[in-house]
Amino acid sequence: KYFHQILLFWEEKMKQKIIIDTDPGKDDALAIILASNSNLFDIKAITTVAGNASIENVTKNARYILKLLGLNIPVYSGEKNSNKKLDSIVQGKNGLSGITNNLKADLTKNAVKKILELIEKNPYEITIVAIGPLTNLAKAIKKSPEIMKKIKRIVIMGGALNVRGNQTKYSEFNFFEDPLAAKVVLDFPTEKILISLDVCNKIMLQISDFEKISNNKVRKFCLKIMKEYIPYILRTEGFNGALMYDPLTVYSLINPSACKFKKLKLSVIPYGINEGQLIEDEKGNEILFVKNIDKIKFKQDFIQILSKEETLLNSKELKDLGEETKQK
Ligand code: RIB
Ligand code: CA
Repeated sequence: KYFHQILLFWEEKMKQKIIIDTDPGKDDALAIILASNSNLFDIKAITTVAGNASIENVTKNARYILKLLGLNIPVYSGEKNSNKKLDSIVQGKNGLSGITNNLKADLTKNAVKKILELIEKNPYEITIVAIGPLTNLAKAIKKSPEIMKKIKRIVIMGGALNVRGNQTKYSEFNFFEDPLAAKVVLDFPTEKILISLDVCNKIMLQISDFEKISNNKVRKFCLKIMKEYIPYILRTEGFNGALMYDPLTVYSLINPSACKFKKLKLSVIPYGINEGQLIEDEKGNEILFVKNIDKIKFKQDFIQILSKEETLLNSKELKDLGEETKQK
């Protein structure tokens, strides 16, 4: 028993400490489940940022996802994002269409403060997984660059280098929503990994893949949110399947050996017609750009990790997953 406790202690100690900065968002929801179920991360906090939906809705959705998973991870919301442009239609109404979410937003508006506190408390140990617009991170850098220098690294989902953007032809949604923030973060000298549309457009899941998830509760939740997401992706982006933007970002930490990295000097155009465009820039910061991710390995690992039984969807929330799940 004592040996088991020691083992648990070290297992906990070995977990990567992460903060997930997110705008849930259906693919954000899958990324949070993947990170939590992988058991590789000590998720210190979820910080929310307006993007796929308003700050109220993305914060409500973050709370909903954690409640479903039975996780008591703190949620700290960003401020009202004055320069938020538009909601992302692929995520449907309120950012998590298909789910009835009666939770409150409870905006704490202290995401930036909490990010800085956590980094100060865990110097050189925190990885920030940034899967929404980079507003909170840019504010944290501006507020205290010396604390942000103590970050271990930032793993970012954003940008489109040699492929068309998905918001304008130049820029990808997260960078488009707050292009100046994207520039501030990419120009900040710390280790960064970037997952862009260049790799995300190559990997998509079909309903048949989600049906392979053996954890009933997670499968029902995924099917519920993917039912609309897939047709929206086809209609708006012309890809036939569920693009896995944010889960791939988490996966680059779960299984880096399945990824091909390339060091590139990159920056972001902050203003003008191609605002938010990711560019190669000799004066830019060197960033680990993910050129490729093994599709077979990702799909296998994604389904295997989401199938783990640790995820305890609580029964009340299960009812909200809708009647048709009973007929299944
Ligand atoms: O362009 C895709 C990104 O924008 C993903 O993070 C998606 O969730 C939205 O935030
Ligand atoms: Ca996102």
